[in-house]
This record gives sequence, structure tokens and C-alpha cells, in this order.
Amino acid sequence: MIELKLQEKQMKFKKIPKNRIRKLRTFFLGKKEYTLRDLNDGSSKELIDLCSNDYFGLSRDKDIINTAYNVTLKEGLGSGSSRFISGSRPIHDLLEKKLSIWLNQEKVLLFPSGFQANIAAMQALTDRNSIIIADKLIHNSLLVGAKTSGSKLVRFLHNDLIDLEKKLSKFTKLEKPVLVVVESLYSMEGSIAPIKKIAKLCKIYNVQLFVDEAHSLGILGHEGKGLCNDIPKDITMISGTLGKSFGSGGAFLACNSEIAQQIIQTSGAFRYTTALAPSLAAGALKSLQKIETNKSWGKDLINISKIWKDEINKLDKFYIRGDCQILSIIIGDEDKTILMQKYLEEQGFLAIGIRPPTVPSGESRIRITIRKTLTDKILKKFILALRNF
Ligand SMILES: Cc1ncc(COP(=O)(O)O)c(C=O)c1O
Repeated sequence: MIELKLQEKQMKFKKIPKNRIRKLRTFFLGKKEYTLRDLNDGSSKELIDLCSNDYFGLSRDKDIINTAYNVTLKEGLGSGSSRFISGSRPIHDLLEKKLSIWLNQEKVLLFPSGFQANIAAMQALTDRNSIIIADKLIHNSLLVGAKTSGSKLVRFLHNDLIDLEKKLSKFTKLEKPVLVVVESLYSMEGSIAPIKKIAKLCKIYNVQLFVDEAHSLGILGHEGKGLCNDIPKDITMISGTLGKSFGSGGAFLACNSEIAQQIIQTSGAFRYTTALAPSLAAGALKSLQKIETNKSWGKDLINISKIWKDEINKLDKFYIRGDCQILSIIIGDEDKTILMQKYLEEQGFLAIGIRPPTVPSGESRIRITIRKTLTDKILKKFILALRNF
């Protein structure tokens, strides 16, 4: 009896307000590269996907799928164990090598997901004696990593160099190891970080810098190689995911050989997990080849996104944020945001409402992501829908 009561106590979950309970939805792929169909919608209605991070549509590229299939026949469906036991395959080594050359970094280490890679990064670069100075809008995985590292976490105002310098000046006086943590393209805001200026400040204050390039790789920087590509020596470590513009899955950390060796030897998140599936590594490698060959894809996507932003702005009806392919139409009120999501669905668009705690209170929004294949006709239809909302 006593034991049961104790169990009940332990099972107390956080109370979630009714209007914030999210429903898990399942989709079939639609006929077009950019369409989806809700599994539970009995009709055959297809929605135009304005929320996936598969910016180049590579997750459905036949060539890439075939490559992944052929490697699966040779190297197995799953890796069967961690990299340290018997899970390392030639495709892992090859992808790590090609990514390190592409990124201009000494060493790349693959992880099963970006969330895990970011936790590993925070744990590897900091400990209970360290101070992390992080942008206010960093991804949840970095916050979880920071917490589990035991370091002191300090936040600076989003993309605000003056506030960052204030914090650097204050906390470097404590003479503890300091790590600055930023993203190059913020996932919910669509804002680009002034990476070179941040790197310069980090150099002046002699602190380490970590950059999450999850949303920028393939798109920003020279030939889509990200914003850290031409200043590799000024960045301690970058993380990237293969599940967004690469259309595959998995992720990686890139850094110098010494830090990489430290991760290989000590990181639980690297050592005690089943190695990335060979098919995903093979697909990502093929995607990398396509991104390398089609050098203008990133710039093209930025240009298309600019046209979308300009057209939405012309309506003079919404406040819109975002510097490239991630655009946030700020609505503010949570219920109105969900109402707008539902309305857009009726109009044929899947554009998910993002609400607290993912974004700050009062900043609920419809976040749209632009894809390379979206046509002018789709843009016109979307603008008409927004006009009539
Ligand atoms: C900025 C950022 N970092 C890391 C991640 C995690 O990457 P993954 O989806 O590979 O776990 C995401 C994905 O949502 C992200 O947006």
C-alpha cells in the first residue's frame, strides 16, 4: 500500500494547459515532392508542405534512395552496435572524411541525431567549473546539454553583440573556462547570426565558440558550406544535422583532431549508442555530392525565400521575421495562431502554428519553411489565402 502511494507520487506529470496539448499527426507522402496527406483524413486531399526542413526535397530523391538501398544490401539495415564495438562501417568513415573536407575541419564524428550530438558537444566542451554564455534562442538540445554538463548557464539577448560583450567582460573575470554557444541560422526565428563578429569577440576574450549549423548547411555561406567554413580556426566546434537540407537522418560534430579524440574516448553520447544506420549515412553522402555539384541551390533558395517574404510583406497585414528559408508570421495570440493553422489547412497548406514554450509567450506564430521546388503558382495561392484570412 505504502509502495503504491510512493509510485503514484513519482508518476505525477507536469500539468499541461488544455489549449497547449499537441496532437501527434501522421502523414502519407503526396504525389508531388512537396505534398503530404493526413493519414486520418479520409479524403485524398493533399496539403502543400510548408513546414518540413527538407529544403531541397532530397528525402524523396530517387537517386539518393537507390544509393541508400544499395549500401543497405552491402552493409546491413542497422549497424548492430556502437562505433566502438562492431558498428563502424566503411560508409561511416567515408562520410566523416568527405564532410570534414567539405567543412574545412580536421575531423567529423557522426551521431544518430543532432539532439544527441549537441548534448555530446556541451558535455565535451564544458563541466561543472565552466560558464556557458548562450544566445537566448538556442535550440532545446543545447539547453539540455548545458544542464547535464553541470556548467553555469548565462544567456545573452538574441544576436545582440553588445549584450554578448557585456557578458563576456563580466564572466571572463571569474577566470573559469567560458564557452559561447550560438546557432548560425535560428530555427524558429529564421534569423542569421553575425558569426564572424561573434568569433572576433570570442578571440578578443580568449574563449571557446560552438556553432550549431543545423539549418544553414547546404544554404548559407560559400557554396552552402555554412557560416563557419572560412574561419575554421576561430570556431571550437560546429554541429550539423543530416536530417534537414540533406534529406537523410543523423548528425555530426566537426572540430580539431584533439577534441575529436577526447569525444571518442570519453563521450557517452558517442560511445554508448548504436551507430548511424548505413542507409542514412549513404543517403547523406549522396546528398552531399548533389549539394556540392549544384552550387547555386543555396543562393536559389535564399532568392525564392526573399520573394515569398516580400510578397507577404506587401499584404501589409502581418509582421514577418526571417532572413532566408525560415519565415515566421508572428500572430501573438495562441488561439488565433491555431485558428490560422486550421484555416490554412482548409486552403491546402500545412503550416504549423508554433506556440510557447517553443517560442516566448505572446510570440505565437505560423512558421513556414520555403523549399526549392515551390512554384510561383503556389506562392500566389498562399498570398490569396493570407489576404482572405
Ligand atoms: C538548431 C537545431 N539544432 C539541432 C537540432 C536537432 O537535430 P536532429 O533533428 O538531427 O536531432 C534541430 C532540429 O530540430 C535544430 O533545429
